[in-house]
Amino acid sequence: MKNVPLKVIPKNSQIALITGASSGIGKAFATHFAGMGYALIITGRQMDKLHALALKLKAGFGVDVKVIKADFSIDEDLNRLLNEIETHDKIFVLVNNAGFGSGLEFCENSLTGHLRMIQAHIVASTELAYAVLPQMIKRKNGIIINVSSIGAYIPAPGNSIYSASKIFLKNLTESIHLEVHQHGVKLQCLCPGLTNTEFHNRINGKKFGMKNDFLWMNPEEVVQDSLLALQKDKIICVPGLVNKMIVGISVLIPRQMYYWIIEKFDKPARAEKITLMS
Ligand SMILES: NC(=O)c1ccc[n+]([C@@H]2O[C@H](COP(=O)([O-])OP(=O)(O)OC[C@H]3O[C@@H](n4cnc5c(N)ncnc54)[C@H](OP(=O)(O)O)[C@@H]3O)[C@@H](O)[C@H]2O)c1
Repeated sequence: MKNVPLKVIPKNSQIALITGASSGIGKAFATHFAGMGYALIITGRQMDKLHALALKLKAGFGVDVKVIKADFSIDEDLNRLLNEIETHDKIFVLVNNAGFGSGLEFCENSLTGHLRMIQAHIVASTELAYAVLPQMIKRKNGIIINVSSIGAYIPAPGNSIYSASKIFLKNLTESIHLEVHQHGVKLQCLCPGLTNTEFHNRINGKKFGMKNDFLWMNPEEVVQDSLLALQKDKIICVPGLVNKMIVGISVLIPRQMYYWIIEKFDKPARAEKITLMS
């Protein structure tokens, strides 16, 4: 691990809670925070992967790691995590990272599928932030990173709830920042673009190969940029030059032109796979 941009702390003196740490960006965050000395609470659904990571981080960095199974589309799982939080008064970092895409058009997906995503991206992130903020405000020290997406800047046919939920996280982050920054709590909305993780392999059961072209970043690079931005007190972090350019262009071009581009290039590609509803 190179150039960790946050301060190293006395081992196990503070806890970082990272959701969706079994792979990808969450796993990279867990590794970085363990390297800085944080005890961890990590969540996910694939327990074998979480336990393997916990073993590695305990052995590598000598930090405590608690593994909690949490599928955020199941109320009991989220409540179990919220109960666990109540037993800790040293949670200094929350990374609301757990998330997934759908790749299905709005009417193509089931309503249950949409509600599951809303539950995981919006409800869980909101409840977890609400649970940890009081202790952070009380001791005037805390960090909350909400992992959104460049999708928060770009309406995304085929991923409507995804893009809408990521906008929610962006506005939530900025609004809470304005409310609590004077209490020593830092918030960041992290908006990655294409990142080499399991994310794209899971979408709609499709298998995408890992890509290596200039559009793609590695999760470690994303986390590195996030922590550097945190150090500079940036509230919104769009990691990588290409993603910054995409976001810059997307906010500058007129909406009508954006719709035209989507109609011209994206719609024909999607039309091939749309299942007509009866
Ligand atoms: N990869 C990209 O190109 C990209 C771009 C922009 C934003 N993001 C965002 O980055 C975040 C992390 O994604 P990633 O790229 O690292 O993908 P990933 O490798 O698929 O990791 C996603 C993590 O979230 C967990 N998760 C997924 N659905 C969950 C649910 N319903 N309840 C609880 N946990 C759940 C997964 O747990 P299990 O594996 O244990 O099930 C896994 O640990 C997501 O919020 C995603 O929207 C990713």
